[in-house]
Formats: sequence, C-alpha cells, structure tokens
Amino acid sequence: MANEILSTEVANYDLDQFIKTQEEKSLLRFLTCGSVDDGKSTLIGRLLFDSQQIYDDQLASLEADSKKIGTQGSDIDFALLVDGLSAEREQGITIDVAYRFFSTETRKYIVADTPGHEQYTRNMATGASTADLAIILIDARKGVLTQTRRHSYIVSLLGVKNVILAINKMDLVDYAQDVFENIEADYRSFADSIGLTDICAIPISALAGDNIFAAGGKTDWYQGPTLMQQLETVEVSADETAAAFRFPVQWVNRPNLDFRGFSGTIMSGQIAPGDAIAALPSGNTSTVKRISTFDGDLDQAIAGQAVTLVLEDEIDISRGDVIAAANDRPEVTDQFMAHLLWMADQPMLPSRPYLLKTANKTVSATITALKHKIDVNTLAHDAGTSLDLNELGVCNLSLGEPIAFDAYSANKSMGSFILIDGLTNDTVGMGMIDFGLRRAENIHWQPININKSARARIKSQTPAVLWFTGLSGSGKSTIANIVEQRLYAQRNHTIILDGDNVRHGLNKDLGFTDTDRVENIRRIAETSKLMVDAGLMVLVSFISPFRAERRMARDLMEEGEFVEIFIDASIELCASRDPKGLYEKAQKGEIKNFTGIDSPYENPELADITIDTANVTPDKAADQIMLYLEENGYLSELDYQI
Ligand code: ADX
Repeated sequence: MANEILSTEVANYDLDQFIKTQEEKSLLRFLTCGSVDDGKSTLIGRLLFDSQQIYDDQLASLEADSKKIGTQGSDIDFALLVDGLSAEREQGITIDVAYRFFSTETRKYIVADTPGHEQYTRNMATGASTADLAIILIDARKGVLTQTRRHSYIVSLLGVKNVILAINKMDLVDYAQDVFENIEADYRSFADSIGLTDICAIPISALAGDNIFAAGGKTDWYQGPTLMQQLETVEVSADETAAAFRFPVQWVNRPNLDFRGFSGTIMSGQIAPGDAIAALPSGNTSTVKRISTFDGDLDQAIAGQAVTLVLEDEIDISRGDVIAAANDRPEVTDQFMAHLLWMADQPMLPSRPYLLKTANKTVSATITALKHKIDVNTLAHDAGTSLDLNELGVCNLSLGEPIAFDAYSANKSMGSFILIDGLTNDTVGMGMIDFGLRRAENIHWQPININKSARARIKSQTPAVLWFTGLSGSGKSTIANIVEQRLYAQRNHTIILDGDNVRHGLNKDLGFTDTDRVENIRRIAETSKLMVDAGLMVLVSFISPFRAERRMARDLMEEGEFVEIFIDASIELCASRDPKGLYEKAQKGEIKNFTGIDSPYENPELADITIDTANVTPDKAADQIMLYLEENGYLSELDYQI
C-alpha cells in the first residue's frame, strides 16, 4: 500500500516536473519559405525526425513507403513524411497553412509550412503573420530566384525580422564555399533593400543532414551555427513586454456595485498598480488601483497575461476600447493608410463597404483609394483600380468610427487588421497599418441648427429614398417618373436621380467596370442622403446591380428612410423591349460589361416592394408603390411648425 502511494507520488512528481519544464521552455514560431523542389519537405521532415517527434508507427510506415515510392533508394525519404502529414490540406481548409509542432531540450517550436507558389501569397502571409523567424530555402544550384525575393518581401512586410538563409543541396555543388558565399552576398544586397538585416546564412544539405543538427564534415570552411543551433539560440527581437502597454478591453466586469474591472489579455508591455493609463478612443485618464486575477491580486502583469484592471476613477470604458500607458498612447483615427493583401476570389473594390476587424473591435470600412499595387515579384509599383486574389496594394481606408491603433512596424497586434465581407462573413483581406491620415484629424462635424426634421416639417412630408433597382430596360425610370408625378400631385417635394442623367454630370467620369459602378452608387447614396437631409422624397433609379452597395445605401440612411423597390423583369424581356438598342449592341459585343450579359446583376434579398413588370403595367406598378407608401406612413401630412 505504502509503495503504491509512493509510486503514485513519484509519477505525479515526474509529470508535474515534465509539464513545468515544458512550460518554461521558450516558444519559437517559424515559417519555412521555399518550394518542394528546394527541399522544404525534406528539411521539415528531418527536423521532426531528428528531434524525435515521429511516432513508431509513422516511422515504420515511412520506412516502408520510402522503399516503395521514395526517391532516396533504400534511405528514408523525409519528404514523404511531411507530404503524408499534408493530407489535412485536402480537407477544405481555406487558408492552407500546415502548422507542425516539435520540441527540444531548450525550446518548443511551431513551424508554419506554407505553399510557395505565387498563387499562395495569402497563405504565406498568414503563416508569416505569427512567425518570429523565417527559414528561406535556396537551391544552391539555382541561387536567388524571383520566388526567393517574393518570399523575403512578404516576410519583411509581415514584420518577421529574423531570417535563416538555408542554402540547400550543398551536396550537389560539391560543398563549394564560393557558391555559398556568392549566393549569400547576392541575397544580402537584396535583403538590405527591403529592410531585412538579421540574416544568418547556413550551407546545408537537408537530404544528407549536413549542418541541420550536426555540423557537416564536408563544410569545414563554415564556422557558423548549424540550423538547429541557430533556432535554439536566436534572440527574438520583437519583445512584446518591452513595447508600450496596450490592453484591449474584452469585457467590463461588474459583478456588484462595489466592483468594476476591465478584463482582457495584455497585448503588449507591462503594468503595475499606480501606473497612469488612458482609455482610447475617449482619451479619459486614470490610475491602476489593482490588477486582479483568479489567483489573487498581482504587483505587476506583462504581455500575454489575462487580468482584470481596477482603476482609481470611474471613467467610461466599454468593450473594444484600449487601455494604454498614459504617456505612450496609440493613435486614434478613422482614416489611415495601410498595406492590404487581398485574399478573396471576388476582387477588392474601392468604395465597397467591408467590415474591418482589429484585435479588439469590428467597424465598417471602405477603401477610399488604391494608391498603387505592389508586384510581389519585382516590388514595382503598378497603377490599378482594384486588387485581385493574392494581390498586394497600398490603400487609404476610411472607417465608420475611430479606432485606436499603432503602426504595424511599432506594434504588430495593434497595427494589423482583417477585412470581412459583411454579406458572406468571409475574410477577404489582411492589412498592416502604416499611418493615420492627418486629414481625418483636422476635419470636424460642424453643428447646424436647422435639422432634417425641421426641413421636412416645413414641407409637411416624411423624407425618404425610394430606391429603384433592376436591369437596364426593366422599367425603373418609367415607373419612377409616374410615381414622382403622383407624389407631386399630392404636394410632395421630390427629386429624381436617374442613372443616365447623373452620368451626364456628377458621374460623367465613370464607366461600367465593377469598380466604377461601386463608386457610381456610393456617390448616389451620399447624394440621396444629403437630399433626405434637405427633407426631400428622393427617387433613385439606377441599375445598382450589387447587393453590397444597395446595403451600403440602406445603412447610410436612418431606419425606415430607405425603401428598396425591385423592378423585376427577366433579361429576355428587357432584351426584347430594348428601348435604347443597347441589348442588341451588347449581344454583338459592341458594348462591354453590359449588365445581365457580361456583367452580373444580383437580385435583391431585402426588397420592400417587388414589381413584376411582365404582368403589371407601369401605371399599376405606380399604384402598388403609392399604396405601400400610404400604408407605411410615408404620405401622412406632418404638422407645419418648428
Ligand atoms: S449602374 O450599374 O452603375 O447602376 P446606371 O444605372 O448608372 O448603372 O446606368 C445604367 C444605364 O447606362 C443603362 O440604363 C443604360 O442606358 C446605360 N448603359 C450603357 N452601358 C451600359 C452597360 N455596359 N451596362 C449597363 N448599362 C449601360
């Protein structure tokens, strides 16, 4: 019995000890860049194998597979191991990054293995976004290639400061020192130009194992560390604790009237009771009274710790705000410039509404300008109007409300964001903030005394937007025209904004590409808003083919001010009517990007009124709309008084 207790205790002790040692080990996240041809799979396979992270059954099947289908004769083909583990890639993971884990006596490692081809730029960037170090693999026979430059640029863009330049396949160039040195010099001069300076070049043979774990006998001219030594000892420069204190508030903890704390995880820096803080975006200041945790109060807390801060003063702080060091605050802005990597099949369109999500907050956002695209292969700046999948650009963004941020170069977590498509919830872009735009700082809301309802009251009417959408030739303008006459007859103050007419003036610079249509609708939505502010009933008659922009227009207005009217007519019906002869031209290919022919029309999901024009005359359609307006209180007379 006594023995049994003893052995249990010993086992517990060992386990605790084991867990403790594991916990104390530092964690290094790294990324491998290169293609299979460069020996990437072989290298990762060898790291896993030599650090004994392979189970016996995996080893047995690896040995068997190596003999059967391997490329290394009777030796083990390490690439098979990694490629075998890659089966998960076929399981519909959208962001295709395989993370592998291994550990040594001193460190734990997470390797992000990402595909190297250009069409996988987004995957590489995803892997790089959390990496402390990148291993850039080069085939010694080929030297620095376009893809080496692309990978290095993305690594530097994502703020990975440490690079191991693994010059592989040294066995195939007879371990020649000059080959190694030439490639290293070549690489360093390029890397310098993109701001990568912490580079450790190592001659290796992933296949033969030279300079991976043990020094290679045939490279005795090389005095530097082996790849593993470098991984074990490299100092990760981005020390989050040394950065300024940033604490995004995840929730306001108020169990009773006597306690009010702000809970979250410290993103960077450190904090102690007595430290002065500021809450952003409000700018309110206070002092830390207590740092509370499940295990009691702390004298100090650092990046990565989950704590609840109690402040000396009752200041207004909500979820999504950032508590920061009072003397070193983040900026607050609703407009900034950023590098944006596009990750969706649907192109990025300036003016289109997206959701922008930072570590702590989600706000609406639009790209107001694409300043230029960056060719990731040549680093050339190209002009462009949109970004396609895997393209990178420098953009200005405008937000629905201000956020607190730091430049990505100063604080990765505070300076990064993703963009989300609000209709599908897909992540469509990844961004790194460069700086806030000053223009945002110096523009304020000017107070105006006569407001919308006063302007509406003097007209005795309820201002609203009647938004007619549908194909060209569906009858939007005809029906809107009749509705306006009816409204006018009832002494309403109206205005019609019609696509063809507005394109002669305000929007004469716009054509029919997706980008131009999005901008066309943005301007009209903003114009309608101004006119609603003027107290008018605004009839908008634009094809407005995209759901996202119709939603944006709706969101610009107040609840109930936006009535979406779908003028439904099939493309065949519109083409048979062809009032302007445009369908005939489009079918002959004389007009490009014609809606319904070679440019899409997305049927409304939120239409308040649908008019089936195949079965209803324009007059009857107007009746239907007037009835809706009447029944929903848009036509009741307002009292004429201010
Ligand atoms: S929208 O798609 O951007 O909303 P808008 O309503 O302004 O289009 O303009 C549509 C009008 O432009 C059509 O009624 C038609 O007369 C004319 N037009 C000329 N080219 C095209 C085209 N490629 N696609 C659609 N309409 C076109």
